[in-house]
Amino acid sequence: MSQINPQWQQEIAKRRTFAIISHPDAGKTTMTEKLLYFGGAIREAGVVKGRKNSKHATSDWMEIEKKRGISVTSSAMDFEYKGHHINILDTPGHQDFSEDTYRTLTAADAAVMIIDVAKGVEAQTIKLFKVCRMRGIPIFTFINKLDRHGKDPFELLEEIERVLGIRTYPMNWPIGMGSSFSGVFDRVKSRVELYQNDSDHEDIRFFEVSGADDPIIGERVGQDLWQQLQDEISLLDVAGDQFDRGLIDKGELSPVFFGSAINNFGVQTFLDNFLQLAPPPSPKKSNVGLIEPGEHPFSGFIFKIQANMNPAHRDRIAFMRICSGRFERGMSVKHVRLGKDIKLAQPVQFMAQDREIIEESFAGDVIGLFDPGIFQIGDTLCVGQSFEYEEMPHFSPEFFSKVMVKDAMKHKQFQKGILQLTEEGTVQLFRTYPMEELILGVVGVLQFEVLEYRLKAEYGVDIVLTRMPFQIARWLEGDKAALDAIKSKTVTDRYGRPVMLFESEYQLRVATEKYANIKFHESSLGL
Ligand code: G4P
Repeated sequence: MSQINPQWQQEIAKRRTFAIISHPDAGKTTMTEKLLYFGGAIREAGVVKGRKNSKHATSDWMEIEKKRGISVTSSAMDFEYKGHHINILDTPGHQDFSEDTYRTLTAADAAVMIIDVAKGVEAQTIKLFKVCRMRGIPIFTFINKLDRHGKDPFELLEEIERVLGIRTYPMNWPIGMGSSFSGVFDRVKSRVELYQNDSDHEDIRFFEVSGADDPIIGERVGQDLWQQLQDEISLLDVAGDQFDRGLIDKGELSPVFFGSAINNFGVQTFLDNFLQLAPPPSPKKSNVGLIEPGEHPFSGFIFKIQANMNPAHRDRIAFMRICSGRFERGMSVKHVRLGKDIKLAQPVQFMAQDREIIEESFAGDVIGLFDPGIFQIGDTLCVGQSFEYEEMPHFSPEFFSKVMVKDAMKHKQFQKGILQLTEEGTVQLFRTYPMEELILGVVGVLQFEVLEYRLKAEYGVDIVLTRMPFQIARWLEGDKAALDAIKSKTVTDRYGRPVMLFESEYQLRVATEKYANIKFHESSLGL
């Protein structure tokens, strides 16, 4: 591979690209906002929030969004902080949870998991965590809302380890909680950061200590809390995991931080540590081997396609993660799947509600490309030698519906619309055998409504959706004879790969036992 300009390499090394994963209401929006605030990217609180409440949303391009007051879109935000260029990828979480949410994680080099101290590990966190785990990216944990009473910190760590199967290393430890919350003991810097009610914690107030047993802590936070802190830290030192950078890099040990995002408390400490520990853009697998971000000219892949940002046009925006080298506006790149060169004239970057045309970007960044219908999820764009990044995985949908066209005369438009819209990737299409009936699968149930709306609005087609009782899809792998033997029980995905649908975990378990010669995969990755 050719060497690229050392200045570009420096730019790439500065990049940190991550996604925040959490269950709704744990504090993802608040945390994002505070991070952007520290980065100077926003000057006032409520900017990101506004997006969520759809007050001034860029993305209120669709009636359905306005009606529901939610955003069906996700994008990326970037800012500079202490010599780093940080990209936060937004993972839609409420009703707009969809396969896009999962796919966004394929564009991240690290994940930050936000957990509500009172609620612990919740359903959506588990799903998103699994995808991060599959990719082996580092996962950082921020336990939020310490200003409220919640679960015992040890109980929370035990829950994370038991439910998610990842070890933890608390970087700091809370002193009190709820009304007695007094701050955190920083195990790395050996200092106490003080929490104060009604403070915006713009500057961290702290004092250095010789250790958790330093009597000055007792003087500042009270003897009872000090005693409790000493007991807990000695228990952690003896029974807890050791700090191990190698395990953090592999996503097997999660550094844990405690704080209160709404009060700005612990956010900056988190960010500073995160920048020390999170990786720069990582190499990515392709059909010609690993592509190193700093040693290869421009390349990237499309991980998300968003339709009709402007309802007056059919334009779509394709989001591309740049994986290597430098990107420049107007540059001519190879569209590998189509086997032709295209010019990327108006790349955009998204900042809270604004879009701006960008002139240059580097590996690690995410940009939006105007898409006249030439991009598909997973497409590779590159310059120089042609290659393709590994296929974008599909993940198991959780809701399924049979779909038919109401008016048989419109069958052609229906076929075209379904194919084009499922290409965008938020709805998966399966075909039954041998009847070739169409089944749609989605991760978030809202996607059915979105599809129904768009088929009507963009293709003039009314559809009939009949919900099916399935909840799980598994991609099958096995030899041809074994797969043929159960063909009548399977459906195929859009690439003709065999898939089996199940109504419950129990059914799935029965099938895996019955068909021991077949592998049941949770996603299509690597198939
Ligand atoms: P999400 O994006 O993960 O869904 O969560 P979001 O940030 O919107 O936060 C959910 C709720 O939790 C919000 O309250 C928010 O203010 C609150 N919150 C976030 N961080 C903290 C924290 O550190 N401590 C406490 N006590 N609350 C926190 P809301 O009432 O739903 O919204 P709002 O009226 O505050 O906008």
